[in-house]
Amino acid sequence: MREDERSSFSGSIGFVLAAAGSAVGLGNIWRFPYLAAKNDGGLFIAIYIVLALTFGFALLMTEIAIGRMTKSSPLKAYGVLNPNWKWIGFFATLVPFMIFPYYCAIGGWVTKYSLAYLTGVGEGVAADGFFGGFITSTTEPIALMAVFLLISSLAIVSGVNKGIEKVSKVLMPILLLLVIGISLFALTISYTDPSGVTRTGTEGLMVYMVPNLSNLTLSHFMGVLLDAMGQLFFSISVAMGIMVAYGSYFKDSGNVSKSVLNIEFFDWLVAFLAGIMIILPLYVFMGREGMHASGPSLVFVTMPKIFIEMGSIGSLVGVAFFIMVFFAALTSNISILEAIVSSLMEHFNISRKTATLAETVIALILGGIVCLGYNVFYFEAKLPTGSVGQILDIMDFISNNLLMPIVAISTCLLIGWVVGPDKIIAEATKNGEKFYGRALYVFLIKYCAPVLLTILLLRSIGILH
Ligand code: PHE
Repeated sequence: MREDERSSFSGSIGFVLAAAGSAVGLGNIWRFPYLAAKNDGGLFIAIYIVLALTFGFALLMTEIAIGRMTKSSPLKAYGVLNPNWKWIGFFATLVPFMIFPYYCAIGGWVTKYSLAYLTGVGEGVAADGFFGGFITSTTEPIALMAVFLLISSLAIVSGVNKGIEKVSKVLMPILLLLVIGISLFALTISYTDPSGVTRTGTEGLMVYMVPNLSNLTLSHFMGVLLDAMGQLFFSISVAMGIMVAYGSYFKDSGNVSKSVLNIEFFDWLVAFLAGIMIILPLYVFMGREGMHASGPSLVFVTMPKIFIEMGSIGSLVGVAFFIMVFFAALTSNISILEAIVSSLMEHFNISRKTATLAETVIALILGGIVCLGYNVFYFEAKLPTGSVGQILDIMDFISNNLLMPIVAISTCLLIGWVVGPDKIIAEATKNGEKFYGRALYVFLIKYCAPVLLTILLLRSIGILH
């Protein structure tokens, strides 16, 4: 990359909001609440917090420090640390390259629903079969995918400071306010079903939060632990080059470990409140069975039906909800694109504009293919996890279940055993910052994280159950 083009975030707040923008995404909204509900709420949340402060902290700090230390894109950074480990950079760039097209496709769906609610036709999207009908249509999903992609490209082409940072500084506070507002509303709702049973939001809160520890066994605990770890790992956006890229734009005077804690807190808070915002209404209007919805069908099928149940205020809550989802998806999408663009700029020595244009064209083609996976190119692939999926699910499986754990495990081995954890700690404390968890960090990076991540990898590719 041309040296004069390596810009940076203006300060710690800009950096933290941009990184939190990456971390807060669809995972916070459609996966965390479901996993919490499935795993006895409070227990899952407690384990998640402990893991975030240890394992998550170590991984996030490592990637940000690698970026800031090498001042390189993810493609090159690992090779700068040790030429024999250059290949990690290839995989760390391949992950965002694979995720980007399908994240744009999902972003297109979110755009469709946001527009529907904003223009007052939200009730229509709640009709049975609407979502299926929409994604199997040929032109509209592609057109909206392109819109979502172009908005992201515009932010990236404007640069780190004037694009990513500016967008994050506006969208993230609004997102937080929306999440808080909808959660407070969720606490106030109540509903009497046809059989005369009344359920309230505060009861739902108890169901969401209070763990049932009476039948807690070791294997159940391990299951919750691995679910929490898998979710955390995905949620803080590590192992896909993003935090290395963002770290490379972080000012040398910034405090790494404090920023990591802030990013993690923001990410956790939105996930936790998403649980209140989603699980409570599901419980109130659908009972305990309703609480176990997740993934695209939760956001695009179940929630619109819930908004109808809420009566006249439902369309307003629907607008707030989908704008919030739109912002969450957009800031994550921008971060994926930046990881790719920074690597392209550096590797081919091209300008930000050229790199963004090139990736935009590639993603338009690949994203189009993903969209056509629901009609023209429709087929049913059986994945090693046992589920059946289309092109989007295959790309998701390869990137999330296979490549991301591989990148994370090899990063831990490189830092723990080759480069040495002290280099990372030195980077994080070079302005005289205090660092209390030295021994814990070394233990986590050398032993604990690689072992746990290997178990996670075996589990996510269906070898371990
Ligand atoms: N961390 C994001 C989430 O929790 C997911 C994400 C995936 C972000 C890929 C960027 C890239 O939803």
